[in-house]
Amino acid sequence: MDKKESLRKIVETIDNIKELAEYGIPVLIEGKKDAESLKNLGISGRFIFVSRTPIFQIADTLKKEGILEVILLTDFDKAGKKYAREILSEFQNRGIKVNNILRNELLKYSRGDLKDIESIYAYISRRVDIMPNFDDMLLPHVISNVGMTLDGKLATVSNDSRISSENDLKRVHELRKEVDGILVGIGTILKDDPRLTVHKVPAVPKENPIRIVVDSSLRIPMTARVLNSDAKTIIATTKPSSNEKDEKIRKLISMGVTVIQTGAKKVNLKDLMNELYKQGIKKILLEGGGTLNFGMFKENLISEIRVYVAPKIFGGSNAPTYVDGEGFKTVEDSPKLELKNHYILDDGIILEYIVIK
Ligand SMILES: NC(=O)c1ccc[n+]([C@@H]2O[C@H](COP(=O)([O-])OP(=O)(O)OC[C@H]3O[C@@H](n4cnc5c(N)ncnc54)[C@H](OP(=O)(O)O)[C@@H]3O)[C@@H](O)[C@H]2O)c1
Repeated sequence: MDKKESLRKIVETIDNIKELAEYGIPVLIEGKKDAESLKNLGISGRFIFVSRTPIFQIADTLKKEGILEVILLTDFDKAGKKYAREILSEFQNRGIKVNNILRNELLKYSRGDLKDIESIYAYISRRVDIMPNFDDMLLPHVISNVGMTLDGKLATVSNDSRISSENDLKRVHELRKEVDGILVGIGTILKDDPRLTVHKVPAVPKENPIRIVVDSSLRIPMTARVLNSDAKTIIATTKPSSNEKDEKIRKLISMGVTVIQTGAKKVNLKDLMNELYKQGIKKILLEGGGTLNFGMFKENLISEIRVYVAPKIFGGSNAPTYVDGEGFKTVEDSPKLELKNHYILDDGIILEYIVIK
């Protein structure tokens, strides 16, 4: 089977699971991470965590409810296989059909991790070019978060960016704890000099995500707070070298900073995302600013959006907005969003969207 054909098979299998889950067939999974992956794949329905309750208890409960079929999607590692066998027999003994074929089909195309499938599925369904190498297609799950005014501004014309309320800052810092990396553009570093650590809510140092700065010409000041030792930092820059640039890279590396080089004029964001995934950074919080946000939307690299809309209006055609850059030319070219959640927080509103693939 060639690459395109096997990718088509993955989509088919996911769609199949989606349909059965919507029909009310419970999906047996390992835990919260798998639930999140399935959610990101657009699968909703009843998820049952097999790691929390003994299998026989789950099987008994479902039998009592009159459930005749389940989908088995437990983890695919060695322990997972043992579980799967146990699950199969407990359910089959009670006359409940275990839809294990779907699991096996997915297993064929993954390296044993639902996160991989999630990433690949996003690639195919976003119609990003299929790469010759399977590993080169893996992309992190990116959540874009901003605090903006009602008129979509991220700061005033004189760069006053006090937009978030007290509880919104706490929400963002809780979100930081959930991700592997925080991504920002060099514009934000130069204008705000943020620390990008978790410090508005209780946290231990290891909960600080890796800070990633996109900086094509390596303009980052050596005194930038993002280079402090509170957390690891990755600087993404372009490939072309010069004596000055090489010297700065050497200095950064000696400070413990990781430097990734990709792209010629600007950092190649898709390659960067793939490299970060390979380095184990599978969930990223994109914290702007507007120029980088556009670059990420343009390349179809954003999966989710969370926005705090403050009851403020800043105005000013030169004030940064949520998404700047060149902009999309037509409505068809622009990202399609689906509102997933909204709630009031302090004096603002939180809006949460999924980017439709
Ligand atoms: N309210 C909020 O939630 C929030 C959050 C963050 C930022 N902000 C505000 O946003 C403003 C900064 O935004 P900004 O637009 O000036 O800067 P930015 O988006 O933080 O950084 C943009 C820079 O990233 C670099 N870059 C490298 N490769 C890129 C690529 N492929 N695509 C896009 N950018 C790439 C470019 O500089 P090089 O070419 O030199 O690499 C570009 O100018 C500040 O006023 C800050 O306060 C607000």
